Amino acid sequence: MKPQTFKQACVNWTYEPGAYAAFLEEAWPLIDKVPGRLGQIEAFFLYQSARSLRSQTRGIDLLPAHAVLEIGSFRGRSSVALGLGLQRNPEGGFRLYCLDPFFDEQLAEGFLAEFRRNIAAAGLTDIVECIPSTSKEAVQRWPLSRPLAMLWIDGNHEYEHVRDDLLCWLPFLNPGGIVAFHDWYLLGVREALLRHFFPNPCLQEVAVIDYNLVAARKVDAPPTCEQRATKKRMEWALRTGSTSPWLALLAMTYEVLSRPFGNLHHFFRETISVTRQRS
Ligand SMILES: C[S@@+](CC[C@H](N)C(=O)[O-])C[C@H]1O[C@@H](n2cnc3c(N)ncnc32)[C@H](O)[C@@H]1O
Repeated sequence: MKPQTFKQACVNWTYEPGAYAAFLEEAWPLIDKVPGRLGQIEAFFLYQSARSLRSQTRGIDLLPAHAVLEIGSFRGRSSVALGLGLQRNPEGGFRLYCLDPFFDEQLAEGFLAEFRRNIAAAGLTDIVECIPSTSKEAVQRWPLSRPLAMLWIDGNHEYEHVRDDLLCWLPFLNPGGIVAFHDWYLLGVREALLRHFFPNPCLQEVAVIDYNLVAARKVDAPPTCEQRATKKRMEWALRTGSTSPWLALLAMTYEVLSRPFGNLHHFFRETISVTRQRS
């Protein structure tokens, strides 16, 4: 049977037939018990990616990666999606590290206890380790002997934080590993992705889920023309919120014309004033 692709909600990601039905039956009811904003299709992407991870993606020159890192766990909704996927990974031996200060100034108590309860209710205590810390503090203590197979970035959504989460943690991700971000629609996330994710040639095979979750695979060879073209197409699908290549072309033309001038209004003003001077 042919692999399946989501229509509308998802761009450029395929999965085995029957996988979604199995997810709905065995994982979604447990994930949906945990409060949070992660949608069903996004949860399926995390679950299915975790389920199909391989620890050794290249020869014997790299340490195998058995660690998956989540930056921003909150009450554990995406942690349960990732954890259930890892639990069903046929290779076994993976661990999920959940990184979050687990504290919110508005909540007097923090939410570590609730996170732990949710992980236990999903039967994931054995494979989940929580790290009550900020991303910046944790990266300084992370051992080089613990490479990552997957990096899920859903912590602080300000530009500087998303940028640092990507740039500081990406060196720990083994080639072949997956990096994914949530909440493209937020300005800080969008800016960090446009500046540091899309231009990075090491990140290819871009997948866009629900126009909101963006993922890529880390590669260690120069991208082919086809990979670069697919990545550009994904970037513009996200920017325009549509898979139409015509809309992308229009938007790209707009950007090329307006970029040096700030916006298109200035472009026309300059063009008209130069034309008037000449005549
Ligand atoms: C959008 S929530 C995460 C949602 C979660 N992934 C889920 O599925 O429900 C963002 C989380 O990032 C955490 N956070 C904020 N700043 C952080 C930082 N510097 N490092 C790690 N986590 C951070 C917050 O405490 C919050 O729990």
